[in-house]
Amino acid sequence: MKKLLFLLLVISFTQSCKKEPQSKLLGSNPRGLITETAMVVSAREEASKIGVEILKKGGNAFDAMMATEMALAVVYPYAGNLGGGGFLVYRLADGTKGALDYREKAPMAAIKNMYLDEEGNIIKGKSTLGSMAIGVPGTVAGVFKAQERFGKLDVKSILKPVIELARNGFKVTEMQSERFAKNDSIFKVINGKEILFNKRLTQGDSVFNVALAATLKRLAENGKDEFYKGQTAKTLVEFIQAHGGIITLEDMANYESKWRDPISFQYDDLTITSMSPPSSGGIVLQQIMKMIEAFSLEDYGHNSLKAVQVLVEAEKRAYADRSYYLGDPDFVDIPTKALTSDVYLENRMADFSFEAATPADSIAHGKILGDESDETTHYSIVDQFGNAIAVTTTLNGGYGSKLYASELGFFLNNEMDDFSSKPGSPNSYGLIGAQANSIAPQKRMLSSMTPTIVEKDDEFFMTLGTPGGSTIITSVLQTILNVHEFKLTMQEAVNAPRFHHQWRPDEIRMETHAFDQTLIEQLKSKGYKLNFERTPVIGRVDGILRLEDGRLEGGADKRGDDTAVGF
Ligand code: DON
Repeated sequence: MKKLLFLLLVISFTQSCKKEPQSKLLGSNPRGLITETAMVVSAREEASKIGVEILKKGGNAFDAMMATEMALAVVYPYAGNLGGGGFLVYRLADGTKGALDYREKAPMAAIKNMYLDEEGNIIKGKSTLGSMAIGVPGTVAGVFKAQERFGKLDVKSILKPVIELARNGFKVTEMQSERFAKNDSIFKVINGKEILFNKRLTQGDSVFNVALAATLKRLAENGKDEFYKGQTAKTLVEFIQAHGGIITLEDMANYESKWRDPISFQYDDLTITSMSPPSSGGIVLQQIMKMIEAFSLEDYGHNSLKAVQVLVEAEKRAYADRSYYLGDPDFVDIPTKALTSDVYLENRMADFSFEAATPADSIAHGKILGDESDETTHYSIVDQFGNAIAVTTTLNGGYGSKLYASELGFFLNNEMDDFSSKPGSPNSYGLIGAQANSIAPQKRMLSSMTPTIVEKDDEFFMTLGTPGGSTIITSVLQTILNVHEFKLTMQEAVNAPRFHHQWRPDEIRMETHAFDQTLIEQLKSKGYKLNFERTPVIGRVDGILRLEDGRLEGGADKRGDDTAVGF
C-alpha cells in the first residue's frame, strides 16, 4: 500500500513538474541503456562492441577510441573513415580537459579561387565530388596521437578485432542498403567503375573488405607513418593523382594533428567544454548558451513557442558571427575573448523581442572593440577508470567525395567544401563564409563539429556530439538543454524533435512531422519562415549521461542504427 502511494505521488509530482512537451518524442522507452561503469555509444553496434571489448581487455577510453573509430571505417563507410578527419574532446579521471584537432588540411597546391571559373562563378560539384574535393586526411594521425599519449594497450592488440571485422565481414543494415542503392550510380561515375558498395547489397548481406583489412594490418605493424610516408601513402597519392587530384607525398608527410585548448564556459551550474577552432562548434555553442542563459527556458517549456524563439534568435546572431570571424586559428586571428564576452553577448540580444522575428537582413556580424593580443559520425566513450571522451569524425558528405580507393579499402573526404569558395556563396550546408575561411595552402577548413563534455559540480556529467553539418551545434545545444532545463532522460533528450536556424537562409529548419501544428502556426504568425524539407532529419546525437547514483545512461539516436554497449 505504502509502495503504491509512493508511486502515485511520484507520478503526480513528475506530471506537475514536467511541462507537457509541445512536440512528439521518438521511441517509447524513456531510458537508454544503463550500465554501472563504462559505455561506448556509436553509429553501429559492431563499433560500440569492439570499443567495449578493448575496455574489457584493460584498455581505456583512448584505446577504445582507436578501435571504435577504425571499426566505424569498416562497418559505417558513410562517415566512419581513414580518409577524413575529426576532433576529440576529453576529460581525464582527474578532471584535466583537452582537445585534439585532426581536421583535414588544404593541399599545398590549393589556391583561393580553385573552385571558380574564369568569370568567378562557382564550378558546380568541384568542391564536393571527386579528387579535387579532397583535403589531406587527418584521422589516422589523430587516433594514433591520442592513443600514444593516453592509451594503455599496444596498437596491434587494439586493431586485431577491427582487422578481423573487416576480413570476416559485417552485415548490411536496412538503412545502409538504402544508402548504397541511392549512391550506386554516382559511385560508378566518380570511380569510373563499380566499387565494393553497390545497389545489390541488401539488408543482411555480408561485406568483406579485405583491402581495408590489409591497410589496417600495415598500420598495426608500421604505425602512423605507414599512412603518411609509407606504402599506403604512395598508393593513396598515386590513386588520387591518377583521378586528377593535387595531393602530393609531401602533403601527406607534412600532415600533423594538433593539441588545442578547448573552449570552456559556465552555463548555470554546468561547465561545458567543447571544440575550439578550426571548429566553430565551441565558440558558437558558448555564444548561443550565454545569450539564452538569462531566459527562463524551464518555465517556458520544452519546444514551446517562447523557448523556440529565444533559441532561434540567439542562433541567428551567433551564426552571423561564425560566418565573418571564424577560420583556421593558424591562419587568422580569431577574437575569441571579445566574441564570448558577457557584455558583447548581452548587447547582441538587445534588439530581441518576443513580438516578432528579427529579420536576418537586419543582423550582421557584431562589432568588436579593437584587436585581441564550424556525413559525419559521433561517438562517446566513458571508461571504467573515469575518463570520458567525445569524438566527431567525418568525410563531410555521405561517403565524402565518393572517390573510393579500392586498393586500400576506404573513401576519401570532400572536406574542401567546408571552405568558403567564394565570399557570400553558400556551401553544401548553406553556410556562408568570408575571408577568415577562404582557401589557402595547408589551411584547415572551418568546421561545425561540436564534440562536447559537460561537468556538474566538478564531476563528469555528460559527453555528447552529432553529425549534421551546420546543424551540429544547435543539436548539441538542444540535447544539453533537454537534460538540464527540461529534465528529460538522456534517451529522451536525444530522441526529441529538433529545429535549427543559421542566420542565412532566414528560416527555421524543423524536423518533418515532429512538431505540433499549434506551435507551427504560432511561429508563422510571429514572422518566422519554416522549412521542413531541407533537413527532414536533424543530427544523430550519441551521448552518455552520469545519473545521480553514479551509473551511466546511454543516448543512442533512434534516427540511425546507433547503439549503446557497456558494462
Ligand atoms: O566539419 C563540418 O562541419 C562538416 N564537414 C560536418 C559534416 C557533417 O556533419 C555531415 N553530416 N551530416
